[in-house]
Amino acid sequence: MIKTERLLIRRFNENDANDLLEYLAKPRVDCFVPEKITTLEEAVAEAKKRADDDVFYAVELVCEMKLIGNLYLQKGEYGTYDLGWNFNEKYEGKGYAYESAKALMDYAFDVLNARRIVAYTADYNMRSNKLLEKLGMRKEGHFIETISFVNNPDGSPKWESANFYAILAKERK
Ligand SMILES: CC(C)(COP(=O)(O)OP(=O)(O)OC[C@H]1O[C@@H](n2cnc3c(N)ncnc32)[C@H](O)[C@@H]1OP(=O)(O)O)[C@@H](O)C(=O)NCCC(=O)NCCS
Repeated sequence: MIKTERLLIRRFNENDANDLLEYLAKPRVDCFVPEKITTLEEAVAEAKKRADDDVFYAVELVCEMKLIGNLYLQKGEYGTYDLGWNFNEKYEGKGYAYESAKALMDYAFDVLNARRIVAYTADYNMRSNKLLEKLGMRKEGHFIETISFVNNPDGSPKWESANFYAILAKERK
């Protein structure tokens, strides 16, 4: 568990189902369309699944005791960790994503001994790209039509281009 000024970064639990449904039911970017859920039953199952998955970190707004989003941190090879996020739109523009992601990055470097943290984001996702820059990550690549999460109306894959960001432990300020 990690505490920041306004947030608690913790494991998921079953009681997060309602709050999880609030944002997973309305995917704002195509990469979360495959994770879309629509019922409370599905949300309970997803919250339970996430509670047992080390990759997911729930972000709770302490003053409201409410789950407002989640971070991902997945261990890869050679001391590399993959970072990602998905927040409830209602809580956007308040610095919560930055506050939690910065704290989790510090945890990854200081406690998990990460050597390198990386992240992919759709090139059109302005808020996510801005957040990566604010976290001090370096843009290392732009992959053209590299992945597809949804289909076009004619059934063909809708290709997405992605930016790739990284930061090394020794580059931290
Ligand atoms: C990407 C995402 C996490 C960004 O959320 P965000 O709230 O814009 O990010 P931040 O926490 O950095 O907040 C920044 C904003 O809060 C404002 N802010 C207000 N109070 C603040 C405070 N106390 N401290 C810092 N910033 C504050 C900043 O000025 C900034 O506003 P601006 O964007 O109008 O310039 C969010 O849009 C999201 O979850 N999107 C859907 C999922 C997604 O796209 N994931 C990535 C998939 S590739």
